[in-house]
Amino acid sequence: MSGILKVSSDWLALREPEDADARSLDLARTVAAMLPDGPIVVHDLGSGTGSMMRWLAPLLPGPQTWILHDWNAGLIERAIDATRPTDRDNAAISARSETGNLADLRAADLAGASLVTASALLDVLTSRDTHAVVNACVEARSPALFTLSVTGEVRLGPRDELDSAFEHAFNAHQQRNTDGRQQLGRYGAPIVQGLFTQAGWKVRQSTTVWRLDHRRPRLLREWFRGWVDAAVEQDPGLRAAATGYRQLRESQIDRGELTAHVRHVDLLAWPRG
Ligand SMILES: C[S@@+](CC[C@H](N)C(=O)[O-])C[C@H]1O[C@@H](n2cnc3c(N)ncnc32)[C@H](O)[C@@H]1O
Repeated sequence: MSGILKVSSDWLALREPEDADARSLDLARTVAAMLPDGPIVVHDLGSGTGSMMRWLAPLLPGPQTWILHDWNAGLIERAIDATRPTDRDNAAISARSETGNLADLRAADLAGASLVTASALLDVLTSRDTHAVVNACVEARSPALFTLSVTGEVRLGPRDELDSAFEHAFNAHQQRNTDGRQQLGRYGAPIVQGLFTQAGWKVRQSTTVWRLDHRRPRLLREWFRGWVDAAVEQDPGLRAAATGYRQLRESQIDRGELTAHVRHVDLLAWPRG
C-alpha cells in the first residue's frame, strides 16, 4: 500500500514542506490577531508527528502550550520528541500529548483552550467524529483553524483523457467504509463548515493548493502512486488502463514534465461577538 493510503511518519515527513507552503498564512494571521495576550493553549487534533505545531507556533504569541491529540501514540511520541519550534518572539514552547479517539472529544477536554487546530484531518473523519469535534469547540468557545482538507479536485498537466476516471474513483475511495468507519472524504470540510455556521459561528475559508512538480519529485511520485492505487482498489475495472497510465505519468515525472495541483481548503471558525 502506498504512503497516501496509510498514515506513516515517512509520508507525513515527505508532505510536510508542501503542507507548509500551501496552508493559508492569511487565515493564520487572522486567528493570531484574535488570540489574547499569552499564555495561550493550542489543541492540535489529529496532530500526527506535529507538522501543524511546527508551522503555526512561530506565527503565534507566547508563552505557548500545545496539546497534541491523536489516536496513534507512536506518531505523537515522535512529535513530542522532535525539535520544537519557537514562538514568534523566539521563546521556547511546551507540548504534551493526549492519546484517544476524536469521536470521544468533549468540551471538558478543551477547557482553557485559546485555539483548536487541525491539518489534513477533516477528510479522514466520520460524521460522528466531526460532530464531536465541532460540538466540543463550540461549547469551549475556542476558535478553530482546520487546514488542508482535500476537496477532491486534482488537475494534472499535461492533461490525459484518463485523469477524470482516476479522480472519480479516488474520491469514492476517500469515502470508503473501513472497519465500520465511513470517512467523509471531500465532504468533511463542507460538513464542518455547515456545523459551525448552524451553531451561529462565523466561518472563513481559503482555497489552498499543493503545487507538485519537479521541485519535489519524491512527493509527486508517492502522491501519484497512492492516488492511482486507491483508484484501482476502489474500481478494479481501471486495473488494465492503469498499467499504461502509470507508465506514461512516471516517465513524465522522470523527465520533470508532470505537474499536479491538488486542491485543499482551510477553514477558520470563531464565535460571534
Ligand atoms: C493525514 S494525518 C495528518 C497528521 C498531521 N496533522 C499533519 O498534518 O501532518 C491524520 C491524522 O489524524 C489522526 N486521526 C484520524 N482519525 C482520528 C480519530 N478519529 N481520532 C484521533 N486521531 C485521528 C491520524 O492518526 C493521523 O495522525
